[in-house]
Amino acid sequence: MKKISGNNCRDIDFSEKGITINELIPIKIKDEEFSLLMSIYEKASIQVLQMLGGVQKEYNNIFNKNIINHTTSRIKEPKSILNKMKKKNLELNYKNLVENINDIAGVRVVCPMKDDIYTIVKIIENVPNWNLICEKDYIKNPKKSGYSGYHLIVEVPVKITSEGNEDKAYLKNQIFVKVEIQIRTMAMDFWATNEHKMKYKTSKNLSFIDSNRLKLYARIINVIDDRFSKINKKREINELI
Ligand code: GTP
Ligand code: MG
Repeated sequence: MKKISGNNCRDIDFSEKGITINELIPIKIKDEEFSLLMSIYEKASIQVLQMLGGVQKEYNNIFNKNIINHTTSRIKEPKSILNKMKKKNLELNYKNLVENINDIAGVRVVCPMKDDIYTIVKIIENVPNWNLICEKDYIKNPKKSGYSGYHLIVEVPVKITSEGNEDKAYLKNQIFVKVEIQIRTMAMDFWATNEHKMKYKTSKNLSFIDSNRLKLYARIINVIDDRFSKINKKREINELI
């Protein structure tokens, strides 16, 4: 996998579809251009999910091991995309959207054990033809809130084809699309899902004491994750003997 540093800018070439997006025109979420762009992000996240599905099957077949409990994916809501751009003080055009909003396509991978996360990270880092844009290990360095998980932003190649003309998908009609991949254990996912609901889905903020409680629970969850890993490793070694 090619590692890319900094923000890469690429042309959005939809000419096969008969649509050329001028990267600097204002974004209108009801326009055809916007839906087309979202369908391309959708294709990118499907590719990531398919790759992970393959990994899950192979680990099951070869090692008789479940390294993925489940995966989910979502495309960011148009309103959330625009809000994020406004927050970042960006002019609402397609160039800024593609270059600066990295989590339009989001895939979440939930693993049974902490070690499984690093196994999956290694696999993702070695996928040929994907570019690694950025990696954040919030397991080794949890966020202030207590949040932990492993985040990667990758770029995956998506072929642009006109419907019914799939055979015309030449390399020049391939664009790289960013996907945010979040990898967590089931325990981290439990914490993050509930914390997210408590912090963002309620009108009142959590009290200082309750925020601190959640931070403490995140640390406890981390200890439990490590202990489960330890027991599981022992079990795996015993199975080999
Ligand atoms: P965003 O602008 O929110 O996307 O953050 P960022 O660009 O700094 O990326 P980062 O990798 O830090 O976090 C992105 C995503 O991780 C968020 O959209 C959440 O899904 C998740 N996340 C990060 N911090 C927290 C947290 O404190 N609590 C929960 N529940 N989720 C978090
Ligand atoms: Mg986000």
